[in-house]
Amino acid sequence: MLTDKFNRVHNYLRISLTDKCNLRCAYCNPIDLPKGYFRGLPRMTADEIEQIVSVFVKEGVKKIRLTGGEPLVRKDAQEIIERISKYPVELAISTNGVLVDKYIDAFKNAGIQSVNVSLDSLTREKFFAITKRDEFNRILDNIYLLLQHDFHVKINVVVMKAVNDDELNDFIAWTKHLPLHVRFIEFMPFAGNEWSREKVFSYQEMLDQISKEYNFMKLQDAKHDTDKKYFVPGHDGTFAIISTMSQPFCGGCNRMRLTTDGKMKNCLFSKSEVDILSTLRNGQDITPLIKQCVWEKEKALGGQFTSVYENLDASKISNRSMINIGG
Ligand code: 5AD
Ligand code: SF4
Repeated sequence: MLTDKFNRVHNYLRISLTDKCNLRCAYCNPIDLPKGYFRGLPRMTADEIEQIVSVFVKEGVKKIRLTGGEPLVRKDAQEIIERISKYPVELAISTNGVLVDKYIDAFKNAGIQSVNVSLDSLTREKFFAITKRDEFNRILDNIYLLLQHDFHVKINVVVMKAVNDDELNDFIAWTKHLPLHVRFIEFMPFAGNEWSREKVFSYQEMLDQISKEYNFMKLQDAKHDTDKKYFVPGHDGTFAIISTMSQPFCGGCNRMRLTTDGKMKNCLFSKSEVDILSTLRNGQDITPLIKQCVWEKEKALGGQFTSVYENLDASKISNRSMINIGG
């Protein structure tokens, strides 16, 4: 079992398959990355990913999520999905939805049941402004395709003040007749993403806005959940809020991350990384490194800031851009 100093058991691994993406969301993958950052890092091969997965599974990992960048732009994504599906883990994927139609069968054959799709606006024009790509209609079609095939579909919405904070209730209206689970995410700071506290639309602000139009009730959250779940009576879907900034949920954290270039991060905001891939390539056992990395995990938010984010100077945070970490 992989346990840290605070007795948190880590059984959930998020693997970034690539740091490339077919969209250019400013908060994640800005067109101009800051100095020292670039897209297209050298990456783990399918075979290496499988070897690393087998070690994590031996150490107690029960859930694996494939992320990116956009995991489905990787040419051997299907092979990787197939290989990991042979292990006794719950396999999930986070995607921007653009290429989902090409992978429906692969998802089914791998036993994937839940797919997270990022979508920050319900209008084509605003979607284009945020992502710089005109893929809105295709993504919408793919979301409906996933529902037709009975996948559990979560929609991730990064909420930014004066960008899409006026659309919360439109997203909730969308869940009236569709079993979609919309998750509103507070805007987080990463290298180069021009975060500022003024752009954070907080958990409380979201609830205030939603309550202007809807009566909603709290749903029970599970121990490791990062989202606070709600439902509107009479709706087929639900909504939730991921309050990383204003009310972090680090106490129940069970996650570890593997970047596309084979570095392990014990937290989304961790400063340090452990080079798993080089050790594997040297023919050495990676188990002690993984254990050490989990053991060194900070109590909250990578030790880099607190939930009093009003005082946060984003330029002092040392981290990669989100596209380089893997959502
Ligand atoms: N703040 C909040 N969420 C983000 N994501 C990417 N960058 C950020 C950010 N700066 C989200 C994406 C995706 C998920 C994996 O992470 O929208 O849905
Ligand atoms: Fe691509 Fe998702 Fe990042 Fe947008 S948020 S740039 S879709 S990886």
